Amino acid sequence: MKFTASFLCLLVVFIATAGDTNSIYHDGPSSLSVTTRQGWIDLNKNGKKDIYEDSSQPVAKRVDNLMKQMTLDEKIGQLEQSPFGKDPATQLASKLKAGEIGSFLDGSAQIETPVLRNKLQHIAVEQSRLGIPLIFGHDSIHGFRTVFPIPLAQACAWEPELFERTQTISARESAAAGIDWVFAPMVDLARDPRWGRIAEGFGEDPWLGALDAAASVRGFQGTNCADANRVVACLKHFVGYGAAEGGRDYNTTEISEFTLRNYYLPQFKAGVDAGALTVMSAFNDLSGFPASGNRHTLTDILRDEWKFPGFVVSDWESVGELEDHGVAEDISEAARLALTAGVDMEMVSTTYRDTLKLQIEQGKISKKVLDEAVRRVLTVKFEKGLFDRPFTDANSYKTAFLQQDAVDLAREAAAKSCVLLKNENGALPLSHHAEKLALIGPFAEDGEEMVGAWYSRAHTNDIVSLADGMRAKLPFDFQLAVARGCSILETNNGKIRRHIGDFSVIQEHPTGADEIAGAVSVAKAADVIVMTLGEPRDWSGEDSSRTSLGLPGRQMELFDAIVATGKPVIVVLFNGRPLAIPQIQKSAAAILEMWFPGVQGGNGVADVLFGDVDPAGRLTTTFPLNVGQVPFYYNALNTGRPGFGEYKGNYVDAPTLPLYPFGFGLAYTTFEFGKVRLDAPEMKLGGTLAAHVQIQNTGERAGTAVAELYIRDVAASAGPRPVHELKGFQKILLQPGESSEVTFNISENELGYYDAKGNWLVEPGKFQLWIAKDSASGEPVNFQLVK
Ligand code: NOJ
Repeated sequence: MKFTASFLCLLVVFIATAGDTNSIYHDGPSSLSVTTRQGWIDLNKNGKKDIYEDSSQPVAKRVDNLMKQMTLDEKIGQLEQSPFGKDPATQLASKLKAGEIGSFLDGSAQIETPVLRNKLQHIAVEQSRLGIPLIFGHDSIHGFRTVFPIPLAQACAWEPELFERTQTISARESAAAGIDWVFAPMVDLARDPRWGRIAEGFGEDPWLGALDAAASVRGFQGTNCADANRVVACLKHFVGYGAAEGGRDYNTTEISEFTLRNYYLPQFKAGVDAGALTVMSAFNDLSGFPASGNRHTLTDILRDEWKFPGFVVSDWESVGELEDHGVAEDISEAARLALTAGVDMEMVSTTYRDTLKLQIEQGKISKKVLDEAVRRVLTVKFEKGLFDRPFTDANSYKTAFLQQDAVDLAREAAAKSCVLLKNENGALPLSHHAEKLALIGPFAEDGEEMVGAWYSRAHTNDIVSLADGMRAKLPFDFQLAVARGCSILETNNGKIRRHIGDFSVIQEHPTGADEIAGAVSVAKAADVIVMTLGEPRDWSGEDSSRTSLGLPGRQMELFDAIVATGKPVIVVLFNGRPLAIPQIQKSAAAILEMWFPGVQGGNGVADVLFGDVDPAGRLTTTFPLNVGQVPFYYNALNTGRPGFGEYKGNYVDAPTLPLYPFGFGLAYTTFEFGKVRLDAPEMKLGGTLAAHVQIQNTGERAGTAVAELYIRDVAASAGPRPVHELKGFQKILLQPGESSEVTFNISENELGYYDAKGNWLVEPGKFQLWIAKDSASGEPVNFQLVK
């Protein structure tokens, strides 16, 4: 048997700690002996095991017992979430000892070990009267140290289990660093690519988004979020945030109740049903009242209709911002509105801390409302096991990051996220034995860009650039010719980029005088040209909206110059949103949409470029032809004048079709979809109906076809239904020439919709059904739903 260094290390730790029930808590000097007893912690230091200290008691009883012992100040403290600040263990020690902080969030501090976390926890647990543990939150959106493709990219894999797997790793790494709770998944439906946060979600489809939301929750929380490798999930941003007018972040949204129910809420509902323990209230004004003070959504829908048992945290200062919105005259009113609406914990702003006590004493807010909020927060802390295991193992982070399974998965996810948008004359895949290969463009050697927005704790050295990924594919004596050609941005052409690691501001390196010409010479000497183009990673994500959807800087100039060489140009795109790039679509030989593919991006992209992995991704967001078409989404309603007769509602200066529709994506082979066949022309309410289609691989390589099931309810009583609604998909691997039948069993689940009150209606009548390659192709078949 071979002992590796890490195995021996673990063995030593195990022997040294065997028999010591408190060993996991040791991470430096502490006064644990005072408060920790065999198997339980004497949190209130009274020498006896109270019900709330007894892990064998049901959570509800523990919460009751604890709440009976709490003062008003301690209760309000549980509702406060504080940022770390510079030196929280010193600056906030007195507040911690007084039990006046319930949670911390690590906004931008570069913390990867649990040392500070445990230090703060020791103060809270050992030096406060009741020893209530803190809960630590962090934005692990698409990974922690192992950063995976951005969520929009992963969604394009059409494989919800991928989220479950990547978020399981993200949970494991986050937990090792002392994080109990992640502010993810972001489940906001987005239809407007100007909005930078489209990168953080799953795209424009509520049905697929709901599957991705639930899978993400399972990935974070597992079957028991108290496990040391798991974290509490947070569904955000409740609700409607993605509908920001003009695509401008934080902007007002105007969403009818009918639209809210059918498009914006289903992902949240799916996440709640999957067991998500927290929800974050959004920044936006929702149809006339800010989401963070919106009792209708936070209480009527979330609590009363859906029976959400967890707690709601506000977004960053969104309670205080009720004043800025103009619905609260002062911070007292802001606190009152938010708490009574259903925001339990306040992130960063301090209106609860500053005003609740007086307002409760004056009878302006009932004690019951406060108690409910405190109960919800404590319940989640108990569920997370914080009362029984408040500290993070001080050593596990040393081996937790970038483990082999995580790195392998990051590579797999990067390859699975890619969408092949064009492939003329079989330009892709590349040959491993290409004679002269040139890699051109600003992303070629730039690893830092690969990780996208919310890159958490990515380290520059862990990231594989595309140039490195490609070099690893080529014979070792092969020289890959690489030329940047131009910068992503030019100085004064937008935001200045931040540098991974220390967040220091760095200057963009503008394109050198002869750089484009130099790249053209490199291209001229090559047989095959791969061009990397896109937008900077911090042009998507929070507060990063755009008014244009083209390529910034001099990238188009570079593209045109390379295309002018007459050689086939394969474009690899790195971006956090759909781009409007008709010129590239016209002139490139192939286009591979890679989004921001994460730390293993270079390897994952190379796997696809060289055909070691076949591209099987499909778009989950429409690519418009130009910015004037947005918002543009496939599951729109019909108009009364749907494209025929004299008045069509078309643009006079541009087509009404998108550049690429929802569901679109090519493979290295081709597929032929046959006619859809139904088992019967009718389906009975409560029954099922099978729909079949024959799919044939008509090319010369194996490949994965994605059969997409779309349904349309032709007439609905509570309001019109979209022209297409995705209601199923199947991925099927077919060998060259192989043909296979795909069957979907349709039930009422696929045929219903919500009315404006949230009732689920399944109505007899006429339906249409497609099984197609994407949302814009295929012929419908009709069937009747009958009583
Ligand atoms: C504001 C963002 O909107 C939210 O998504 C994030 O979780 C919080 N800041 C905490 O960083």
